[in-house]
Amino acid sequence: MVALIQPANAETIAAAGRLLAEGQLVAFPTETVYGLGADAGCDRAVAAIFAAKGRPRFNPLIIHVAEATEAEALVAVDDRARHLMARFWPGPLTLVLARRSDAPVSLLASAGLDSLAVRLPDHPVARALIRAAGRPLAAPSANRSGRVSPTEAAHVAACLGGKPAMILDGGPCRVGVESTVLDLTGLHPTLLRPGGVSVEDLTNALGEEPHAPPSDVGVKAPGMLDSHYAPGLPVRLGARAAEPGEALLAFGPVSGAATLNLSPSGDLEEAAANLFAMLRGLDRPEFSAIAVAPIPRHGLGLAINDRLRRAASPRPEGQS
Ligand code: TXA
Ligand code: MG
Repeated sequence: MVALIQPANAETIAAAGRLLAEGQLVAFPTETVYGLGADAGCDRAVAAIFAAKGRPRFNPLIIHVAEATEAEALVAVDDRARHLMARFWPGPLTLVLARRSDAPVSLLASAGLDSLAVRLPDHPVARALIRAAGRPLAAPSANRSGRVSPTEAAHVAACLGGKPAMILDGGPCRVGVESTVLDLTGLHPTLLRPGGVSVEDLTNALGEEPHAPPSDVGVKAPGMLDSHYAPGLPVRLGARAAEPGEALLAFGPVSGAATLNLSPSGDLEEAAANLFAMLRGLDRPEFSAIAVAPIPRHGLGLAINDRLRRAASPRPEGQS
């Protein structure tokens, strides 16, 4: 049996790249903390991240690239963003930008938002791994949800056990706190999370102080924001069958006709992987509403139910 923790070298990085391309999870060092990486374009692999972390809801993930130019395929890069990239990349600054409609990134990775968080880590192992995988990597910190972020390979193993197929050991992380998250989708840059790049340095580069997030409770999970994706159609939860005109989003084996099925076999990871794409797929004018079958409340089912509850809750005037 191959040891879970592998010293990072050309051979192990190549092997880890193959695991990622197959849709498996690999933990890897960055200059900030260890990340739990997956192919950002693969819904199933991204769902496995949420399952491994035990996340109660689908927070959007940071998409890691090996070169600044690779970010251009994912997000709309304006002059302000380009300036910050030139100044701070590679390094501990994550930029939230408008997601390109053709971005080859799982909707689950960005939690259905119209924006995407991108980052170019300043760690040779991280960059070599992204190149070896041949695709951008979605990677949250490699800890169980609610626990401290790991800054050594052994922390990852202690926290996540064998959930990653491999843990690449690149020694202790230099920065030790997560990247600064800066939202550039609005008129004013907004600091969503303080981190490895100081506010002073950001202010200097921007020529203005970044705004605080629009709330006095500190950084809200974007999954809690009103702007979070909800279908245009009303959503009816706990549906056993579709009413006339409704689309039925089923789960598990069904006797009647389902328009789409999150997982015919009742697999919650598969359901999570399909959730956002199927909600979008059913959001069509020929239906009056989307009826969603009951989803079990364990494992990823908690996050799926959380997300569905938001999609079904009444919307403020003018928001779709
Ligand atoms: O240093 C780091 O950033 C580490 C290493 C592994 O790169 N990653 C990390 O990921 O800390 P995570 O998932 O633990 O934190 C991601 C942060 C969260 O606060 C999340 O809400 C925010 O980024 N985020 C991601 N996508 C976003 C989006 N589209 N809009 C707003 N915030 C976003
Ligand atoms: Mg984290």
